[in-house]
Amino acid sequence: MRNLSVEIAGVALKNPVMVASGTFGSGMEFSEFVDLNRLGAVVTKGVANVPWPGNPTPRIAETPSGMMNAIGLQNPGIEVFKKRDLPFLEEYDTKVVVNVVGKSIPEYVAVVEQLADSNADLLEINISCPNVKEGGIAFGQDPRAVEQITKEIKKVAKQPIIMKLSPNVTDITVMAKAAVAGGADALSLINTLTGMKIDIHRRTFAIANKTGGVSGPAIHPIAVRMVYQVAQAVDVPIIGMGGIASCEDAIEMMLAGATAVSVGTANFRNPSICMDIVAGMEAYLERYDISDIRQLIGAVR
Ligand SMILES: Cc1cc2nc3c(=O)[nH]c(=O)nc-3n(C[C@H](O)[C@H](O)[C@H](O)COP(=O)(O)O)c2cc1C
Repeated sequence: MRNLSVEIAGVALKNPVMVASGTFGSGMEFSEFVDLNRLGAVVTKGVANVPWPGNPTPRIAETPSGMMNAIGLQNPGIEVFKKRDLPFLEEYDTKVVVNVVGKSIPEYVAVVEQLADSNADLLEINISCPNVKEGGIAFGQDPRAVEQITKEIKKVAKQPIIMKLSPNVTDITVMAKAAVAGGADALSLINTLTGMKIDIHRRTFAIANKTGGVSGPAIHPIAVRMVYQVAQAVDVPIIGMGGIASCEDAIEMMLAGATAVSVGTANFRNPSICMDIVAGMEAYLERYDISDIRQLIGAVR
C-alpha cells in the first residue's frame, strides 16, 4: 500500500486532491459524477455574513486555454449555508474546507464566528478575489492589511486558517510572509489573474464587470512558479492551484512545494477529473516505486 495521505495544519486528508472554491458549489451538483468520499477535501464556494447577489451578467467568457469570470462571489449568506450546505457535506467521509469572503474585517470575522460550532475542518479565507470592488482584493494586495486581517481572524477562529493569496501582486512572497506573520496556519494560491476580453462584434466588454479573473491551463506555469517561490519563503503547508487539469499537473505542483492541490476550472470540462487525478497519483507512486506521496512535496529545488 502506498501512502497518499497528507496533513494540513493538523488535519489529515486521505489524499492531496481538493476542489477549488467556486468551481464545485458545495458538492451537491457534482455528487452525481464524483464520489465525494474519494476526495481529500471539498472546498465550498465563498460564503459571506449576508447573501450577495453577485455581479451583473455576462459574468463568464472563454479565453485561450482557460476562462475568465467575474461572478462577484454570489452566495446565499452564512445562515442558509449552515442549514443547507454543511449538513449535506457531513454525510461524506471527506474533509470540509469553508471558503470565507467579506468586504471588511468585521464581515470576515462574523462568518468565522458563525462557523465555530460547525463541521468545517479548515477555513480558507479569500482575500484575493479580483471581482469584488471593496475589501477582498484590497486586503490581498497590501501586506499590512494581509497581516492585520489574518491576526483578527485568528483571534476568533476555532479551525485552522488557510489564507488564499492573490497572484495580482509584484511579489507574492511578501504577501505570504505577511500572512504567516499574522498567524496563518496554511496558505493557498493562486486565485485568478485579472484579465480583460473585448467582444469586437458587439464592440464592448465580453464581461459586464469589464475585467475578470483568468483561470484554467493558461495560468498553470505561473501558479507553479508562485507555489515554488512561496515554498522557499515560508514554512507552512501550501495548497497549490491554478490550471491543474491532469495528474501530471498535480504532481508538478507538489514537486514545486504544495502539500495538497485544488482543482478548479478543469471540473467544468470533466466533472470526474478529480477522481482521475487521485487514480493517477496512485499509478505514479507505483510506477516510480515511491512509498509515500509526502516524499514529493517540495522535492524539486
Ligand atoms: C467560476 C469561478 C468561481 C470562483 N469562485 C471563487 C470563490 O468563491 N472563492 C475563491 O477563493 N476562489 C474562487 N475562484 C478561484 C478558484 O478557486 C481558483 O483559485 C482559480 O480558479 C485557479 O484555479 P483553476 O485554474 O484550477 O480554476 C473561482 C474561480 C472560478 C473559475
